[in-house]
Amino acid sequence: MSERVFMSHSESETRELGRKLGENIEAGLCVLLYGDLGAGKTVLVRGVGEALGISGVRSPSFTLINEYETASGLVIHADLYRLDDASSLGLEEYEDSVLFVEWPDRWRNPPVNDVLKVSISAVNESEREIVINAEGVKAERVLMKL
Ligand SMILES: Nc1ncnc2c1ncn2[C@@H]1O[C@H](COP(=O)(O)OP(=O)(O)OP(=O)(O)O)[C@@H](O)[C@H]1O
Ligand SMILES: [Mg+2]
Repeated sequence: MSERVFMSHSESETRELGRKLGENIEAGLCVLLYGDLGAGKTVLVRGVGEALGISGVRSPSFTLINEYETASGLVIHADLYRLDDASSLGLEEYEDSVLFVEWPDRWRNPPVNDVLKVSISAVNESEREIVINAEGVKAERVLMKL
């Protein structure tokens, strides 16, 4: 397990971190995004999207799952906030894709290997502390490139 801590001072800095993540992402990786409402989870995924040629990542808070076909394969962006239990979504079926999940505490059995856990907390209106934990060879390799 490895951990790194990043400080972001603006929305664009968080998007930039997402862009780096997008540039280094590998199929089979699961990114669990923790943090309160408005922490910046979707902003980070928007940066990932920019790196992968997805223009305008929208929050999946109503659609629950957004799917994007990219040159790096299928990218899934899910938001489980409105669910008590995410088992009906069948997120397990996306194990060969890249998966971004907001509010992953609603997911009973998230993968434990090749996982990046991103925890975003607001220091003030524009500053965010972003702690990233990596579990598994693939995830650790990606974390070291950020
Ligand atoms: N440093 C920062 N990084 C990211 N977002 C920031 C930052 N500073 C301010 N913000 C603002 O915080 C908000 C983050 O919104 P975002 O939709 O990404 O939150 P979220 O964590 O996805 O919330 P939700 O759980 O409701 O989906 C945006 O309005 C953004 O402009
Ligand atoms: Mg969001």
